[in-house]
Amino acid sequence: MLNLSKSSPSPYSSAFSHVPHLPSPATFRRPSPTRSPLAIFCFSNALLTKRYCRVLFLALFSITFLFFLLKLSPPPSFEPSQLNYIPPGADLVLLPPPYPSSPTHAQRKGMPPLFEAWKEYERTLPQHAEDDETTKFIYMKNHVYASGWGNVLQEMILNAHLAFLSGRSFVFDNYTWDRSTSEYSSFNGKTIPSRVPVSTMLAGPIIGGSFDLTHLSDPFFTIDPSPNSHPRAVSNEYYERVCTGQKKVIDSAIVRDAVMSWDGKANLKAWTNHLQSLPDRCVELDINAEHIFNIWMFGSPQILTLWPSLSESPIMRQFTHSPLILGAFERHHHLFGVIDTKSARPKGLLHLIPGLGTFLPDVLFPRTRRENNKYSRAPLPSSASPSNSSLSLVDLNQLPFFYPHSPARPNINDTIPGLLVLHIRRGDFAQHCVNLVKWGSAFNGFNAFEDMRDQDGFDSAAAGAGTEPPGDEPISPENESDFNARIAGLSEEEKDHAREARKGSVDAYFAAKRDHEDRVVKYETAKANYLERCFPNIDQIVRHVRQVREAAALASLKANSNSPRILSPPSAPLTHLYVMTNGKPPFLAELRAALELDAIAHNTLNIPPWESIYTSRDLELGWEEGYVSQALDMYIAQRAEVFVGNGFSSLTSIIVMLRKANGVDSIKTRLW
Ligand SMILES: *[C@@H]1O[C@H](CO)[C@@H](O)[C@H](O)[C@H]1NC(C)=O
Ligand SMILES: *[C@@H]1O[C@H](CO)[C@@H](O)[C@H](O)[C@H]1NC(C)=O
Ligand SMILES: *[C@@H]1O[C@H](CO)[C@@H](O)[C@H](O)[C@H]1NC(C)=O
Ligand SMILES: *[C@@H]1O[C@H](CO)[C@@H](O)[C@H](O)[C@H]1NC(C)=O
Repeated sequence: MLNLSKSSPSPYSSAFSHVPHLPSPATFRRPSPTRSPLAIFCFSNALLTKRYCRVLFLALFSITFLFFLLKLSPPPSFEPSQLNYIPPGADLVLLPPPYPSSPTHAQRKGMPPLFEAWKEYERTLPQHAEDDETTKFIYMKNHVYASGWGNVLQEMILNAHLAFLSGRSFVFDNYTWDRSTSEYSSFNGKTIPSRVPVSTMLAGPIIGGSFDLTHLSDPFFTIDPSPNSHPRAVSNEYYERVCTGQKKVIDSAIVRDAVMSWDGKANLKAWTNHLQSLPDRCVELDINAEHIFNIWMFGSPQILTLWPSLSESPIMRQFTHSPLILGAFERHHHLFGVIDTKSARPKGLLHLIPGLGTFLPDVLFPRTRRENNKYSRAPLPSSASPSNSSLSLVDLNQLPFFYPHSPARPNINDTIPGLLVLHIRRGDFAQHCVNLVKWGSAFNGFNAFEDMRDQDGFDSAAAGAGTEPPGDEPISPENESDFNARIAGLSEEEKDHAREARKGSVDAYFAAKRDHEDRVVKYETAKANYLERCFPNIDQIVRHVRQVREAAALASLKANSNSPRILSPPSAPLTHLYVMTNGKPPFLAELRAALELDAIAHNTLNIPPWESIYTSRDLELGWEEGYVSQALDMYIAQRAEVFVGNGFSSLTSIIVMLRKANGVDSIKTRLW
């Protein structure tokens, strides 16, 4: 029986639970328009030392020289404009524009970015260059939209994994807020982009990168290791172009009704078999069909049965963050207690020169040696980079040169020692968390791994899941004086009758009143139980943080005494704090003060005081970065020594998955 109405919210319940983080225009730092660009780099940007300025002058000189050299070569012919595709081979990713950039016209007008360069990048992926007429596609056109990034990404990860298993090219779409043709939409009265290309936030196979098929070991399926059986993902635009007139549109009900459960493994298997059985080249889910991996599955630990397969998937193992996100992290890495690597290199210098990545002379890259020698050579001018496109592209493997403190695929060794990250949802969660009571919601499935349940589980039944709001107070009966006035003119017999009736209704009223009071108490208790885990107040946050710091300190002690359970204890006391949040500044100021005080006032274990406390609001983000900052928060949390998430949040559950896949011990991944 599929009766899950008690345990999960309604399909669009969380539509507004993870809204894009929209910073105020004040957070965009703008260069002074009166200074020349070079003056800005050299005098107002503390990143650049004198030496680098000299290098930069040299670079610009060489570039100018190259420019004239190129001018001498025959001018490009003006044939009908055609797309020039990124050549196949290495995975090339798009470098973001320089930071801080001079504001564009749209930016000056206060408009949000439309991410043209990223759209162009996706359009020119090598797999879009020509149609081999054999690749099979699966387009989940019914994917989540108008929803927070966490909700969208969790579905995208599973859809991409399913596409991989079924040997079909995953058709990726934009992160879509609005399906209308207009480029702009609005949220809470603010203008936002209708669509954000996913390559702004991610790289790797989910967005068209190549699969690494060398260490495949899926526990449920035999994976054909030949590259041809796992075509790269393509864009929705490309799919529409090559699949016109040959689409097979299917409904998700076919498989759902056959499986008759929300079990993750059963559904994944049934869907893989179904998609493999279809002879059609172009298969798409009806736009109105229910999601394959829907909120009932994500809302239940039953989804965890597919984790053994997902955790081995290239979609998880090659989960990669975009250069835009890495660049933003790199600029802020000191905030999180990341220690500078020894190898000196001009940090992000290429970054400052848009569109010229390919021409930069070797002089910009003093030969650097890394411990593993993997990147002992400076990035070659990427010969693969198209000379006829304005995009600055770089090989994914060369990103460490640009972002030495920001690995694109952080593994367990990239954990930032001593960093504690908290996920504190405010805003719409004030209402959302209250609604969870009557929906009877449990923690998201991916926040309910067994070891996490043991440690920070949420017993929704005990908390009062499904408790309905108490409703209105009963209406009090007519009062004594009104009643007497009303019966004044009646006969004695009628008066007796009326008194009898009144006694009955007064008794009923008091019974109803007691009942209502009980319901109020029950509801308020349930609400408090839910809010503590979903919308903790400052006292609760402070207390929980104290316990988490103490547990981490004790785990380190225990590990030193060879306790078998803890594989990777915290390597440093938690002294750097980052709060990923949409909370308002006054709340955050109060929270910061309370945390600082508590670390001193209640410190029985002699944990060192906080060295730093920062929040999402403290980051200085560029124009484009400001609209994808939730992906930056996710990256920081993935690398944290200890993370405290929100069990009801899908963004938290993706962080939990990434940490789990990296082998982070569960004592370091906590929930409110
Ligand atoms: C994203 O949306 C733009 C229009 O805003 C469209 O041109 C582009 O093809 C879309 N990208 C994908 C991957 O569908
Ligand atoms: C540049 O464009 C031309 C066609 O105009 C194409 O033949 C060539 O391969 C492109 N070069 C690169 C590196 O993409
Ligand atoms: C992390 O570092 C250890 C020790 O240097 C190494 O054995 C291990 O392979 C590394 N793990 C990953 C995922 O790179
Ligand atoms: C009884 O109720 C009436 C209104 O229905 C109000 O005007 C009156 O003051 C009340 N009398 C007492 C004694 O509460």
